Amino acid sequence: MVTMSLSSIKRCFNLEDFNSKAKAKLPSPLYHYIEGGADDEITRHRNTEAFNDYQILPRVLEDVTQINMQTTVLGCTVDWPVLLAPTGMTRFFHHHGERAVARAADKFNTLYSLSTLSTTTIEDVAAATRGPKMFQLYVLRDPAINEELIDRCRLAKYDALCLTVDTVVQGNRERDLRTGMTIPPKPTLNSLMGFAARPSWCYRYFTSPALEMANLSHHIDEGSSKVSSLGSYINGQFDRALNWRAAEQIAQRWQGPFAIKGIMTVEDARRALDIGATAVIISNHGGRQLDTVPPPSNWWLILPMP
Ligand SMILES: Cc1cc2nc3c(=O)[nH]c(=O)nc-3n(C[C@H](O)[C@H](O)[C@H](O)COP(=O)(O)O)c2cc1C
Repeated sequence: MVTMSLSSIKRCFNLEDFNSKAKAKLPSPLYHYIEGGADDEITRHRNTEAFNDYQILPRVLEDVTQINMQTTVLGCTVDWPVLLAPTGMTRFFHHHGERAVARAADKFNTLYSLSTLSTTTIEDVAAATRGPKMFQLYVLRDPAINEELIDRCRLAKYDALCLTVDTVVQGNRERDLRTGMTIPPKPTLNSLMGFAARPSWCYRYFTSPALEMANLSHHIDEGSSKVSSLGSYINGQFDRALNWRAAEQIAQRWQGPFAIKGIMTVEDARRALDIGATAVIISNHGGRQLDTVPPPSNWWLILPMP
């Protein structure tokens, strides 16, 4: 997501067009942060290849004057079966951030997912749109914070909760190491050049309200409210002891539609349903976490042998 005029967006006909625009508009460390995967990016590439390998077999001679793609997901009626996955720190990528993405989801009546690591609060997103909304929870070491986030979502009338389970530590993003990418950006020789080459992004960054982890900032100690980096926050504060019992307790506290995101095996999918999940999201986090895991569309590969 980058600042683009409407006419410029109208010239985007496919994802590759958006990708080229993003590359042209964003500082290179940010572009590579969004575009990159973990380690050798084997999984990231496999995801794209697997998606391209889908083949559609059309049935013909059907009346298509009325097309209805409406379906129900996690208790929400959506007009088409494409949902918006959670992405943290969205205002880094466009100054309108999470509110704009949530409004776009509302416009097309599909589900928006707000990340724990968002730059807009749970309440501000709820105020910006009445469309279907899911909150994506990362479990922190301090249980009081997790409980507070769940309770705030209930008060703000979120439709569903999603627990991401593939990120107890941050994936090793080699591109970020190369470009000097940190969130917030820290000036290093490499990153400075990338940012200096995109003055309009820098202008927005310095003239917009400070970027922070909006849902968590009041829990970050005074004096250290500028988190040293997203990676160090994740590796320091996310709960590595997260287990099935904790997931069950989260489902019980939420008492509503509950998805577990990052499930990759049949055994874990069954267990998720046993502890009270209403859905599983088969995902490898876009290849950004554990490299060499299979793409979601190849899930049959990991089905147990009969
Ligand atoms: C820039 C960026 C930020 C992301 N932030 C989050 C996040 O905060 N929480 C989360 O659960 N997933 C996050 N993801 C992963 C996506 O939600 C999603 O899993 C990924 O794009 C792959 O799509 P898939 O899960 O449908 O296969 C992020 C992905 C990107 C590209």
